[in-house]
Amino acid sequence: MNKSKLLALSITLGNLGICFLSNAQSFLKTHPSINPYHYQVVKEASFSKGAVTSAHPLASMVGAAIMQEGGNAFDAAIATQFSLAVVFPGAGNIGGGGFMLARKTNGELIGIDYREAAPGKATRDMYLDENGNPIKSMSLDGASASGIPGSVAGMIATHAYAKLSLAALIEPAIEFAEYGFVITEREAKGLNAEKANFLKNSSAPSAFTKKEWKAGDTLYQPELAATLKRIQQKGLAGFYEGETADYIVNEMKHSAGIISKEDLKNYRPKFRKPIEFDYRGHHVISFAPPSSGGIIIAQMLKMIQPYNVEKMGLNTEASVSLMVEAQRRAYADRAEHMGDPDYWKVPTDTLISDGYAKERMKDYQPGVVGSSKITKAGLVHESEQTTHFSVIDAEGNMVAITTTLNDTYGNKTIVAGAGFLLNNEMDDFSVKPGVPNMYGALGGEANSIVPGKRMLSSMTPTLVTLNGKPYISIGTPGGTTIPNQVYEGLVNIIDHKMSLKEAIDAPRFHHQWIPDQVGVETDFPEETMNALKANGYTIIRRGRFGRMDGVQILQDGKRNAVGDKRGDDSVAGY
Ligand code: DON
Repeated sequence: MNKSKLLALSITLGNLGICFLSNAQSFLKTHPSINPYHYQVVKEASFSKGAVTSAHPLASMVGAAIMQEGGNAFDAAIATQFSLAVVFPGAGNIGGGGFMLARKTNGELIGIDYREAAPGKATRDMYLDENGNPIKSMSLDGASASGIPGSVAGMIATHAYAKLSLAALIEPAIEFAEYGFVITEREAKGLNAEKANFLKNSSAPSAFTKKEWKAGDTLYQPELAATLKRIQQKGLAGFYEGETADYIVNEMKHSAGIISKEDLKNYRPKFRKPIEFDYRGHHVISFAPPSSGGIIIAQMLKMIQPYNVEKMGLNTEASVSLMVEAQRRAYADRAEHMGDPDYWKVPTDTLISDGYAKERMKDYQPGVVGSSKITKAGLVHESEQTTHFSVIDAEGNMVAITTTLNDTYGNKTIVAGAGFLLNNEMDDFSVKPGVPNMYGALGGEANSIVPGKRMLSSMTPTLVTLNGKPYISIGTPGGTTIPNQVYEGLVNIIDHKMSLKEAIDAPRFHHQWIPDQVGVETDFPEETMNALKANGYTIIRRGRFGRMDGVQILQDGKRNAVGDKRGDDSVAGY
């Protein structure tokens, strides 16, 4: 590993120090280099065999160790996801859902949709008051906002492709929960900021509400450790039935939640055929509905393909206005045409076709600012918290997983007795046609609430092959900004020939049709911003968005892993 690229985040030793580990079970004892009380954030490194990048150093290190011991990318991904559920509680989860996208070395593609589903008692208007107005707090705060969690079922489905036992892959997470780990400053701030909400939205105080946190404190999660042990021992039944299911259903009473025992027992992940398309000689593979991400990035990249974006330059007025006009058109289609494909006919083939992209850009004129009043969804004729992590193993198997509780720390409900946070994914449905969700996204019938239906997502785990060979695994959190971040990341690498790190660190911009404005990050070039403004675009400076993590195979075969500078994201490998 290139030491010069280490960005050290100094984390002080936890109260109990390493000696506590003498009582620890097998994983940490046999992996002295993974020290939950002292670890560093590594932003970029290249490895000769396997690499992992995720939102937390401990989770990445676990994934790398699992591969080093004979596991493949699937083993590493499962162990990383369970570890994130402990060390990155704001978004790593067992109470949420996500998408697992993979390409095996033999070219086989796998898409596992473990998105949350609407409970059996859900109704179309469940978040409206008697006057038909949305009660925002109901779809965001407390158990009433929860969809049926999918993460545990998703990881168990992924395990069909793994080599090691599920028990071994859950063990590191159990030990982080039981023996504690030292929290970063960012985590301490996050937990403190939500303390009042945790107490209000949960039926009992929890590990998170024990104290005012500061960087270097050790967080113990004994209830979560016990839940993970039940999963370790009983698999699906350890979460979706028995004691854990009882805890979840009991927690529903505190804030009008409607998830039942049957909902939990009947939850199943679904296999989805990935979206595939070519962009300037690269083959891009991404997630299908109920994610909108794969379709949106296919549309946007196809819309800009006829133009010489490289010549226009990175984040110039010319390239940003072209890319924004593609964003406007694709996001208009998202609002109208996309939803759970088992409940709504999504015209995927048309939306991602070359002909449709050409048709959509017919009214585009370089230098002329578009308008979302004029640009609507195309006519189709056809019969803030999430987390992303990427793994590429020694054989070239690639995994990209984006998983979420929706908002940071989900609906702020910690299931009493079980120690994990519940999602507020129900807000990703269109609670009423024309009423924006927490990301300002609009939707209609395609994304209305129906029992069992999965809410439309923007999560965009994405893989790229080059000349038929594995090349990139990438993704990011950020609500509706996600497809735009992936789109811009790919353009940075493919058009602007940037390294993965440069591509990830570059300033981002975001347009989502409505509101008709371009959000730009704090370090977006002033000059471009002024030029866009002068042309008539409404520009909003926003903070940073997303935490994009990726692994890219370099020409010499090395796996170059990058963790976004925007978080505690960190890489590991061997
Ligand atoms: O599935 C979705 O599109 C959202 N629930 C993702 C939320 C998210 O990325 C929040 N992260 N910052």
